Amino acid sequence: MKHTRDAAADPEFLPFFQPSLGEAEIEAVAEALRSGWLTYGPRVREFGRACARYLDVAHAVPVASCSAGLFLALKACGLRSGDEVVLPSLTFTSTLAAVLHCGATPILADVEDETLGLDPEAVAAALTPRTRAIVPVHMAGHPCRIGDLLDLARPRGLTVVEDAAHAFGATVGGKRLGAFGHATVFSFYATKCITTGDGGLVATSDDALARELELLSFHGMDGNAWQRYGDRGRWYYEIVRLGWKMHLGDPAAALGLVQLGRADELAARREAIARFYTEELAGLPGVVTPRTAPWAGHAWHLYILRVDPDVVSEGRDGLIADLTAARIGSSVHFIPLHHHPAYRDLLAAQASRLPRTERYFREAVTLPLFPDMSEAQASRVVAAVRASMSARLRA
Ligand SMILES: Cc1ncc(COP(=O)(O)O)c(C=O)c1O
Repeated sequence: MKHTRDAAADPEFLPFFQPSLGEAEIEAVAEALRSGWLTYGPRVREFGRACARYLDVAHAVPVASCSAGLFLALKACGLRSGDEVVLPSLTFTSTLAAVLHCGATPILADVEDETLGLDPEAVAAALTPRTRAIVPVHMAGHPCRIGDLLDLARPRGLTVVEDAAHAFGATVGGKRLGAFGHATVFSFYATKCITTGDGGLVATSDDALARELELLSFHGMDGNAWQRYGDRGRWYYEIVRLGWKMHLGDPAAALGLVQLGRADELAARREAIARFYTEELAGLPGVVTPRTAPWAGHAWHLYILRVDPDVVSEGRDGLIADLTAARIGSSVHFIPLHHHPAYRDLLAAQASRLPRTERYFREAVTLPLFPDMSEAQASRVVAAVRASMSARLRA
């Protein structure tokens, strides 16, 4: 999938996201290719260690994607058929797919308006004797109330695997996500805070869990089997688990190492644009700008505006139509899981418990936000939102 502006096709089009890639990234990937390490190799190990240092967590296991990482983390934590897992419906399909691929039963809980993460009270109400895990999502890059969720989980012995696909670098009480729950899973997909193209990471403080993740992501192969073809390699290996092939490769890790070195710079740029949007749009009748809780450090993966359908003609669909007409990309994060055809039968009965998710879905629109966005581009977005509201606000 391509995430860059195709200037030749439409020079005016402002994409919803564009990765920030420079010569350093290109050179690092070229160097990895020249080295001959095309798959799991020394750069993957180095990238994992560098991510662990950045997140201040004992272990960080690079994997093929956040989707793969969520599945592996739940598997490694021992999730199985008959277990119930509490998760939000306001998320991407991967959060649920990981639960279902383990054979477990999803139990949906509503989100809060402030953080867009799981509402701890709704989670408490969803717990049963069969509950085995909670999978919170740090939506848009704003941390959920992870402390309150851990307070619910710990005394009951529940596993907490955090979906932090959007939230690399986000903080709670000044501490980066990564070492709160049993495992925290990040995405390095092209649109995320930092990218490896496709890729992900599972962070954990648990030595045994880290070892299990490494095994499961590499065929269940023992030891330093990745070195088999290196100068310290040997031919013998053993398969000690039924595993998968879900690890990262060296060219992607080389890209990730450069992006990791730029993580704070990229985050600062996104934050500056988000601040500009809020300064320009807060208080504009018809829209509500995103909030940041006082205890949270937002990673600003997404800037989600809410459009009040009671006062704006055609609500958020109207704003999206106006942005499209102004050649500005936008999106909706997310279509709740229980709305998708594949999951409707399974989840429809739980929809009545999700009033805030339903309302959010009617109102949400994601504006363009990426590090290399210029002030002129951000101003264009603000002007288009203002024009849309002044045309659509009902008297
Ligand atoms: C909330 C959430 N979880 C998981 C994923 C999956 O990430 P990946 O593409 O790295 O598998 C995404 C991807 O957009 C996401 O938004």
